Amino acid sequence: MLPDYSRGVDETLRLGFTSLESELDGVELEVRGAVPPEVRGTLYRIGPARLGAYGERYRHWFCGDGMVHAFTFEGGRVRYRNRFVQTRGKLEEDAARRRIHATFGTQASGNALARLKYRFKHHGAKNGANTHVVRHAGRLLALWEGGRPYRIDPETLETLGEEDFGGVLGAKDTFSAHPRIDSATGELWNFGIEHGGRPRLNIYRLGADGVLEKRAKVDLPYAAMIHDCALTPARLVVALSPYTLPTIPVLLMLGQVSYGQQLRWRPQLGLNIMTFDRRTGEVRWFRTDPLLTIHLSHAFDDGADVVLDACAYPDADIMQTFVEIMAGELRTQSRSWMERLRLRADGRVTRERLSPTTLEFPRVEVDVVARPNKLFGVSWGERSPFASVPAAIDTQTGAAQLAPEVAGDWAGECVPVPRGPGAEPWVLTLVLNTAERRSELRVLDGADLKAPPAAVIPLPHVVPMGFHGSWVV
Ligand SMILES: [Fe+2]
Repeated sequence: MLPDYSRGVDETLRLGFTSLESELDGVELEVRGAVPPEVRGTLYRIGPARLGAYGERYRHWFCGDGMVHAFTFEGGRVRYRNRFVQTRGKLEEDAARRRIHATFGTQASGNALARLKYRFKHHGAKNGANTHVVRHAGRLLALWEGGRPYRIDPETLETLGEEDFGGVLGAKDTFSAHPRIDSATGELWNFGIEHGGRPRLNIYRLGADGVLEKRAKVDLPYAAMIHDCALTPARLVVALSPYTLPTIPVLLMLGQVSYGQQLRWRPQLGLNIMTFDRRTGEVRWFRTDPLLTIHLSHAFDDGADVVLDACAYPDADIMQTFVEIMAGELRTQSRSWMERLRLRADGRVTRERLSPTTLEFPRVEVDVVARPNKLFGVSWGERSPFASVPAAIDTQTGAAQLAPEVAGDWAGECVPVPRGPGAEPWVLTLVLNTAERRSELRVLDGADLKAPPAAVIPLPHVVPMGFHGSWVV
């Protein structure tokens, strides 16, 4: 039996962090309002949906088994399908009907000896396949930063297996959950961390033809958790926050703690940012005062400078928040703001806060842009435990517009849907509606988030709070 998290706990947190096991197969959803004609295609969304295994609840939001949700818009109607990603680890646990694996933030089951044995048998943690779902060169990929992608059938959402790109990705290679697609060239760029005695970063280029190449291996100054990257027409940008494993992570090596439990905030290391020249392979490093950047929004070249806009937390307290929301006991409050970091040609870094409005899950309309005018995301509201209110920030002025805050509504990432040249996009967000005890997809007007949604599409269940998604036409 799972512990009872309902007593004395905010109902939004309880609903949003309860496992969803049911899978629906192409059901038509009710549409309240009208779907705009430009919204034709499929929104794929992903997040952890099984938040424990066989009676043992996970500690951390990032641990659960991933589930893909597909909302297909056609002629103003919406079809919905959801499926677990059937990872090797999940299938093993389903066959054994018990928890077997360690996950991002939860150590393996059992006593110290059992955890030690697990470590020597399995080495790493279970691939959660729960962080992002991306379509590229005909492949739909469910991504998790500590392992290889899982390939998904875009129509049925059936799991087709682990993707190694024709043998280029080895069994222990990792492929981050935040690749960036250059819409001008059709290339996808990504990175993967190699931990171990000598932490390194593999840099990947996946051509428009779907062929993957390892472009470089770069030594890292320390074994940081790196979640995201940014891409300009000339460079890939990666930021290393000082949130790191110890030089020798003894407890992790002995299986006594999970990767996430072994990470520590070491502000004395500063924030180190790497730029990688896509053409020449030249690597440059920049250093500035410490920040925790989980999500980068985008970057652009500005003469010889590179400008990076990132969601920045003052420290790593937010990682504790992700443990607390799983336990239904939110105590640690931490917020992030958009920080503009100018990586100057002379090696110096200058910084400014783009807006006084908090933001998480930043999205711009296209993947590579010279200078996006607007970011979409979710902001911390007056009464919200986490970033949960749709927001747009003007990158020129810092002015922000927020959707009206409704107690008990928790909106996830805002995915822009292009409306046409010169027009603001539509914005799709999956919202936990606590009052109605279900999730609903909302279609918002990117030009006016304060307006009532153009359409509200209720789901027959609550989708556990998830992470990222892609709009695919
Ligand atoms: Fe992310």
